[in-house]
Amino acid sequence: MSTYDLTRLLPADHFGQALRHDVQQGLTAYPKWLPPKWFYDARGSELFEEITRLPEYYPTRAEREILTARSREIAAITRARTLVELGSGSSEKTRLLLDALSELGTLAEYVPVDVSESALESAAESLTAQYPKLAVRAVVSDFTHGLGLSDGAGGPRLVAFLGGTLGNLLPDERAGFLASLRAGLEPGDAVLLGTDLVKEAGVLVAAYDDAAGVTAAFNKNVLTVLNRELGADFDPDQFDHVALWDAKREWIEMRLRSRRAQTVKIRELGLPVHFDEGEELRTEISAKFSHTRIADELAAAGMRLAEWWTDEAGRFGLSLAVPV
Ligand code: SAH
Ligand code: AVI
Repeated sequence: MSTYDLTRLLPADHFGQALRHDVQQGLTAYPKWLPPKWFYDARGSELFEEITRLPEYYPTRAEREILTARSREIAAITRARTLVELGSGSSEKTRLLLDALSELGTLAEYVPVDVSESALESAAESLTAQYPKLAVRAVVSDFTHGLGLSDGAGGPRLVAFLGGTLGNLLPDERAGFLASLRAGLEPGDAVLLGTDLVKEAGVLVAAYDDAAGVTAAFNKNVLTVLNRELGADFDPDQFDHVALWDAKREWIEMRLRSRRAQTVKIRELGLPVHFDEGEELRTEISAKFSHTRIADELAAAGMRLAEWWTDEAGRFGLSLAVPV
């Protein structure tokens, strides 16, 4: 029976320490905010998968459409021996790349990298069953704390960052991330980057405020994470889900709005956090891009946009970039 490796790249208590740090910083700031990586405990990862199947949430379907049309071309251009995937989640769309690279006969190793150990485990289990000849080396890591790109199996690496997750980083973080990604590349490697594109506000807001309330549950899940991990006493029912389009910054912002004046205690930090009635906590940005912006940001980080594809409706962009 084939199996997989799972490496924890960060020190044992990294996640506990990082969560404490982020909560202390973000909930004592004004306006209050939290980084979106804390959504993804086992429940948050399941809720994200549910989001990808919602009628309003088009990005996953649009990106799958592009990958279905282009994976063979991507395989032929990159001839990757190792596929590294950052923020791999369920690795569901990745199967299109794995199939194309396996068919070409170049692929030896798949390295999914994610903060969510539960998502990595379930993806790696089903991938080893489906691709018995493939070495699956899962890495639990935070890609904002250094990428730790492995040398792989020798030969060209393709680093995939799909789903539009780049857009969840703030502009400065994004520039730092792209620079460190570039620093980890060797000649012959390539990057495959999925980014959601700017479009009509109504379509964007609906994708982040679905009728069934799944995105609201995903957003509020971060409060449950804080309750469990830090002994906080958030009542998720006392917060409303908010999704708004910031046309100037070209990003969707998800927030949690306090229904009343309330003080929440974060027991493990000895921290009382007061919310006024209507006060909002920003939980995520999801930046939307254009071809020009992607090409410029890649160039600023020392990469060249070699290929650019969109779905038929022009909703989502997939870039293939190479180091210069
Ligand atoms: N690539 C998949 C999943 C996208 S959801 C898709 O396209 O459907 C975003 C994924 O990134 C989640 O699995 C989440 O756990 C992971 N993630 C978010 N922030 C991260 C970080 N800082 N480091 C590593 N993984 C992260
Ligand atoms: C993972 N990331 C690209 C998703 C997005 O669309 O920004 C996370 C998400 N947030 C709400 N819905 C989905």
